[in-house]
Amino acid sequence: MRILLTGATGLLGGELLRLLLAEGHETRCLIRADSPNASRLAGERAEILRGDAAREEDLYRALGDTDAILHVAGIEYAPPVVRAASRAGVERILIVGSTSAHSAYAFRSGPKVRMEELVRGSGLAWTILRPSMIYGSERDRNVHRLLRFLDRSPVFPVFGPGTNLWQPVYYEDCARGVFEALQRPASVHRSYDLPGAEPLTYLDLVKIAAAALGRSPSIVRLPIEPIRWALAAAERLRLPLPVDSGQVTRLREDKAYPYEQARHDLDYAPRPFREGIVLEVARLRKLGMVRS
Ligand SMILES: NC(=O)c1ccc[n+]([C@@H]2O[C@H](COP(=O)([O-])OP(=O)(O)OC[C@H]3O[C@@H](n4cnc5c(N)ncnc54)[C@H](OP(=O)(O)O)[C@@H]3O)[C@@H](O)[C@H]2O)c1
Repeated sequence: MRILLTGATGLLGGELLRLLLAEGHETRCLIRADSPNASRLAGERAEILRGDAAREEDLYRALGDTDAILHVAGIEYAPPVVRAASRAGVERILIVGSTSAHSAYAFRSGPKVRMEELVRGSGLAWTILRPSMIYGSERDRNVHRLLRFLDRSPVFPVFGPGTNLWQPVYYEDCARGVFEALQRPASVHRSYDLPGAEPLTYLDLVKIAAAALGRSPSIVRLPIEPIRWALAAAERLRLPLPVDSGQVTRLREDKAYPYEQARHDLDYAPRPFREGIVLEVARLRKLGMVRS
């Protein structure tokens, strides 16, 4: 197939590009003109086109002669993606969203849900793929930071009881799920959650990550509420912050997702966190990013 891929310079999109090329799909990547990550695609057998996924015209131009779009760059761009695909007569669209569409907190789920509704109402042959938190490399936004902290600190602070559930997915497993959806007609007009193998409490997640480094930090529990109030106050003063009060609020929410539909239709079989984290630690050690 001839595929237009967005997000190819990112963690998930990079792995998808590898799978697409390995399977012989002709792949065109839409890359922002000012992407700081463009060099990651140097030497790839893919066609590179400069453009912005927020702009319908750029997408329309990039969609010429393709059979499908694999849109990984963000579901917030669904409106121009849907319009451009309709105009270009490209029926098959696969859109990567997020399991945060399931959040009970409307500030988190609302925008994702609205974008999903727009995709479902597009009249196109759509599939929506929802990763949970993606990890597995120095390019992830979360677990590699956790590992680097655990590598250096004998103490680890946990906000609240740490019993809320998480289900992070190894980036290769998530990419395999998205890729299988492209290959299988059963995925048309369906939405799939793509989480890791099983939910873990945050405390267990931290302990498993620490064990993969050969570390056993002392856990210090901190109350959530005063921290959330302090962050909310700082936000009102427009102070720049590493986390926002919404993220802290969501620490109380379980992020556990069944994936029977993906298992059934896509043979989705993600690896357990304790296996993925060992691979990530090995990678960070090789890069000299952790010492333990
Ligand atoms: N990471 C997670 O934990 C997580 C969890 C749930 C869902 N997701 C979703 O999964 C997808 C991939 O995540 P990821 O971790 O691989 O993200 P990532 O590493 O940050 O990559 C994002 C990619 O999108 C590209 N991009 C962003 N805005 C663009 C635009 N306007 N035009 C063209 N390209 C644009 C970026 O290009 P540049 O090189 O120019 O930056 C980059 O290639 C995203 O849709 C994300 O919302 C991620």
